Amino acid sequence: VKRLRIGLLGCGTVGGGFVALVDRERDRLRSRYSLDLTIDRILVRDAGKERRGIDPALLTTCATEVIDRDCDVIVEVVGGVHSAGTYVRRAIRQGRHVVTANKALLAATGSELFGAAAARGVTIGFEASVCGGVPVIGVLRRGLAGDSIESITGILNGTSNFILSRLHEGLGFAEALACAQELGFAEADPALDVSGQDAAQKLRILAGLAFDAPIRRTTVVGIDGITPGIIQNARSRGCVVRSVAEATRVAGGIELRVGPKFLAATEPLARIVDETNAIVIRGRAVGEIVLSGRGAGSMPTAAAVLADVLDISCLT
Ligand code: NAP
Ligand code: HSE
Repeated sequence: VKRLRIGLLGCGTVGGGFVALVDRERDRLRSRYSLDLTIDRILVRDAGKERRGIDPALLTTCATEVIDRDCDVIVEVVGGVHSAGTYVRRAIRQGRHVVTANKALLAATGSELFGAAAARGVTIGFEASVCGGVPVIGVLRRGLAGDSIESITGILNGTSNFILSRLHEGLGFAEALACAQELGFAEADPALDVSGQDAAQKLRILAGLAFDAPIRRTTVVGIDGITPGIIQNARSRGCVVRSVAEATRVAGGIELRVGPKFLAATEPLARIVDETNAIVIRGRAVGEIVLSGRGAGSMPTAAAVLADVLDISCLT
């Protein structure tokens, strides 16, 4: 049985789910992959906070105590760009493989981080950074590697879709957002969700994998301007409002667009409700591929993180 030692940065919605999932799957991973996963140390901001199922002895507020240990993989689920970037760069310099769920970090500094990782001979797994538990990164990197991608269209932000679903049921915007936050779907700064920026970051990551062409234009409109009147107007036309992200080929490159749309209630994306995400990928050879599932939340996202950790276990 091979032992894989993990240093965990962050123990909130995703990090806490990851600890619970590793515990739950431990016996299966041992018998199926001859792999023994241990979480050696966990970085948090507040070590005194009550955390069900977490051994307090593992907690630290000092990042180097996690990163500089002799772990095989560093899992970054702290979020944000500044501190998380510092931690990931240090982990790479120390020769650690990294798994991250942090699309903000990758959208802002991905090419630098992937360059540094390649130069140091380590891997960055990022399946959890786009669409939570839906394995779209693996599909684009491996499953569709043989085809030319023509377009990607989808619902990439669970919080926005959850809010729009509630607005259609008559709930107010503020109550719907509070509910999404309570359920752990929203970003620490929910403005990223409702402004469309989170979806745009994910779309940028997908476009980077799917197309060998520069991004020429990006347009991002949030759902923060959606009023009960707009919802009513959509309903009166037999439509629903959804925030749709689209990456399409244009002259000289790729255009990215995120924004609310009226979709006929019979359209496939109109039927995507709550925190569910959906992605329609059109390839020249394969035609249309549709993926859909839980795009946010503790356990679905933790499953994507764990999948990356298992991939990395083959490299150690
Ligand atoms: P979260 O619930 O806010 O958890 C963040 C964790 O990181 C907390 O344990 C926090 O410590 C710790 N932390 C934050 N800043 C820190 C710092 N500067 N130093 C030390 N520890 C720090 O966030 P989350 O929802 O799990 O999201 C984490 C990442 O996953 C983000 O990049 C997010 O975009 C991404 N993601 C989230 C979801 C989702 O559904 N939530 C899905 C996909 C991807 P305390 O516990 O002490 O506050
Ligand atoms: N805040 C994000 C969302 C989490 O609602 O989609 C998943 O990336």
